[in-house]
Amino acid sequence: MGQTAIESDRTHVLPLEFGRAMPIAVRGDGVWIEDADGRRYLDAMSGGSMAATLGHGRRDIIAAARAQAETLAFVHNERMTNPTQERLAEELVGVAPEGFTRARFTVSGADANEMAIQIARSYHVERGDVDRWQVISPAQAYHGPTLETLALTGRPGMHGPFGPYLPKHLHIPPSTWRFDPTGEAALEALDRALEEAGPENVSAYFCEAISAAALPGYTPPIRFWEGLAERRERHGFLVCFDEVVTGVGRTGRWFAGAGTACVPDIIATAKGLGAGYAAIGAVLVRERVYEAFAQGSRRFTLGHTWDGAPLACAVGLAVLEAMRTEGLVERVHDRGAQLLGELGDALAGIPLVREVRGHGYLLGVSFVDPRDGESFLPPELRFGARIDAAAFDRELIVLSTQPTRDGYAGDQTLFAPAFTATDEELGEMVSRFAEVVRSVAADVEPELARAAPITSAPIGGAR
Ligand SMILES: Cc1ncc(COP(=O)(O)O)c(C=O)c1O
Repeated sequence: MGQTAIESDRTHVLPLEFGRAMPIAVRGDGVWIEDADGRRYLDAMSGGSMAATLGHGRRDIIAAARAQAETLAFVHNERMTNPTQERLAEELVGVAPEGFTRARFTVSGADANEMAIQIARSYHVERGDVDRWQVISPAQAYHGPTLETLALTGRPGMHGPFGPYLPKHLHIPPSTWRFDPTGEAALEALDRALEEAGPENVSAYFCEAISAAALPGYTPPIRFWEGLAERRERHGFLVCFDEVVTGVGRTGRWFAGAGTACVPDIIATAKGLGAGYAAIGAVLVRERVYEAFAQGSRRFTLGHTWDGAPLACAVGLAVLEAMRTEGLVERVHDRGAQLLGELGDALAGIPLVREVRGHGYLLGVSFVDPRDGESFLPPELRFGARIDAAAFDRELIVLSTQPTRDGYAGDQTLFAPAFTATDEELGEMVSRFAEVVRSVAADVEPELARAAPITSAPIGGAR
């Protein structure tokens, strides 16, 4: 091809952002990605989107995929099952929180979330509770780009022009230090939402156990989880966790849901299951959810062509095997705590850094206006975007977001390396990142002095 970057007006690919040149990634090796120019990027984001949890070039996974493709590449669920899907379901429920007994495979995270919502609604209908459809979810979240998953967030900035297509779910604000450090305000908002919908119409509370890009590394205080569990008991809705990112080891547990004070009824997972080698997700349900179908219509037939395909499931099996034999859940658990400390130490003394938080290898840094130490940074500074660009210049991949206009989060950076990164590579990621933050912080200082401070009051769509 001879090119090292592709301009948005020179490609047949409909670009994500017009006017931006995209470097071309040509190969990967462990946590390193090489572009067409020969530059090697240290990837602190597991392939950019937290999917490549085991790094690039895994011979074991490649061999498993090859062997499966040679034996039986594809067969559709409608007519036949296949041994690979059967084994993966068994192994996955084996590492899921107690009480989870069945899995249905999907192709992506968004369609796993959609299926979780359909299963929750069907659970109630199967039991004769046909009015329950409404979903309550946190406003500041991300669950995917499909219409239903977009509707699960209360973020006008993310909804764009698609509002007319989105079902009207109800949202509550996050319990961050800024808005609700105890979790009580979110519980009050949950009670108001239950009241507004009529608790007998509520199908599910839907959330990330630990947030990924929307509020990196954030999880509500324990009081919120306990209060949610009480309300589930009282009102009979289900709790669904989006574990698209947190599932399969990311937070130092097989599933983050096992570690909360409100173990969910349904879990949707995806990214780490295919580890970047195959597009595969899964929905896991507790036995009592399964029982509603078993005692009811005995059908849940919606699904995509590729759900449970042997090739993707063979990759999933090889991923679980690697996780087990290399002790990666334990490694992420133990090393993650240390990594959080190292990241905190490396960023210490930077007045724009308000919080370094997270679990396992799902870590986040939130930035504030140093003039009062708590307001969001003025969005026109584009702090997060500048962090990503400066990191890229230093051949480091991180992911920042700037959802300021939604009102519940400001500039923040996600730090989510592959589980297989060596100590040396993790150290290098931390030191490159600290350099980047210090240099961008110094760059924005004069602009910050001129920019009007913004209010920290939420302007988002939570009701
Ligand atoms: C928490 C969360 N849920 C859902 C999704 C959507 O997953 P997918 O892009 O595989 O549809 C993502 C993707 O980034 C995610 O981070």
